[in-house]
Amino acid sequence: MATLPVNLYGDEILRRKAKHVESLDEKTRKFIDDMFETMRASEGVGLSANQVGSRDAIFVIDVSPLEGYEDEKPTVFINPKIVERSDETDYYEEGCLSLPGLRAEVERPTRITIEYLDEEFQPRKLTRDDFVARVVQHEYDHLRGVFFTDLLEDESRRRLKKSLNAIKRRKVDVHYEVTEPA
Ligand code: NI
Repeated sequence: MATLPVNLYGDEILRRKAKHVESLDEKTRKFIDDMFETMRASEGVGLSANQVGSRDAIFVIDVSPLEGYEDEKPTVFINPKIVERSDETDYYEEGCLSLPGLRAEVERPTRITIEYLDEEFQPRKLTRDDFVARVVQHEYDHLRGVFFTDLLEDESRRRLKKSLNAIKRRKVDVHYEVTEPA
């Protein structure tokens, strides 16, 4: 396994829509292992493929480092589709490996149902109404080219503009490997 450099805000791939994965070959399996390795090395709880240079519709999550979630298994979501979202929403502070140093309260549906393929390319369906639901929605957004900052009110987004530009120019402290600025 290897760690991969993480794309930061400003890198074009983070604004592009992911591509459907047609089959699970050796190369993709290895890439998924590397995604898990990169996520752990950077102390993230979720990572999408475009954050580490691939257009494949894949994200991984591992919330087991969090209190109360110790028994959760690391999970890979291939070709994910959120098929249900609750009307009820809540706010929670989010961060992102592609937006180092930046955090904000983000409103999202409380409960979601997602369909996806697992590491054996078998169809799965998952409904969650806890922190996992939030992480899943955050990573799912990445595959659509969306950052959590896009979901904020105009006023909050304006306040973050300077920080976003600093990230683009790599004028930030990061404790994991990132890509060169475009
Ligand atoms: Ni993120």
